[in-house]
Amino acid sequence: MKKIRKAAVIGGGTMGNGIAHVFSMHGITTHLVERNLELAEKALETISGNLDRMVGKEKIDATQKEETLDRIVTFTDIVKAVDEVELVVEAVSENFDLKKEVFTEIDRAAPAEAILASNTSSISITKLAAATTRADKFIGMHFFNPVPVMKLVEVVKGLQTSAATVAAIEKTARGLDKNPVVVSDYPGFVSNRVLMPMINEAIYCVYEGVAEPEEIDQVMKLGMAHPMGPLRLADFIGLDVCLDILHVLHEGFKDPKYRPCPLLVKMVEAGRLGDKTGEGFYSYD
Ligand code: CAA
Repeated sequence: MKKIRKAAVIGGGTMGNGIAHVFSMHGITTHLVERNLELAEKALETISGNLDRMVGKEKIDATQKEETLDRIVTFTDIVKAVDEVELVVEAVSENFDLKKEVFTEIDRAAPAEAILASNTSSISITKLAAATTRADKFIGMHFFNPVPVMKLVEVVKGLQTSAATVAAIEKTARGLDKNPVVVSDYPGFVSNRVLMPMINEAIYCVYEGVAEPEEIDQVMKLGMAHPMGPLRLADFIGLDVCLDILHVLHEGFKDPKYRPCPLLVKMVEAGRLGDKTGEGFYSYD
């Protein structure tokens, strides 16, 4: 199986720009799609800033930074962006109807042999694959934030994903200097099925007055060597995203152990979503 040389990334938000950064840094010509030119420019600025951080840490040099930026081509048109690519990774918002629409378009325009991957953290890969004509070449490629730093790619095998597609994505992930872990397509996969109940339980501890957020996070950082406590991590991920994933787990398994804490629901209703709104369990500038 040959190495992927050209890929498209759909969506230039936190995950999409991180994925484009990593693809391009590993020599893959990357077509980055955003809804308009301003958003595409903003995504490139973020990538440039994160590359500067890596230059500062002497992980790459200034030439590698420029080469990485040069390999990223921005598009606002999906049809043009997926022409001649071998892999498409979708990283648009976590909304099934939107993803379905995007994949219908990609499926029509991308070469027949191209693999289609979704970076979804909670939507069924099998269900998304059914929106395309190539369910055997459809897979989950779940990256973690910050993408340039986190070593995992959770490779999610849909019901109809072929063994060749799984092998190609495992190889691609290794080529990005990541560790692929292959899992089956059930709600929350493995990562969020394990992570979100922990975050939810930490929120219940705040809700029930067991301890303050700082204390809960200290317990998990110092006692369990987590780099961030669960409440700091929930803010980092986005409280709306955490709530959406808990809903997927709750509805998918019909098990009350996944019931979102009422405090989480209330914070999302108030628009306190964590880092991105400046206010969550903590305040940010
Ligand atoms: N691009 C490039 N490099 C970056 C970066 C970025 N966006 N963000 C951080 N870094 C680098 C820093 O330069 C630094 O490099 P060195 O190790 O060479 O010093 C390193 O990452 C650590 O960063 P900092 O020193 O700034 O800060 P830190 O030590 O506090 O680490 C962190 C920050 C990496 C985010 C760490 O706190 C951490 O690992 N947190 C947990 C993150 C996590 O769990 N992510 C998964 C979230 S779940 C998800 O994404 C998916 C989902 O489905 C919900």
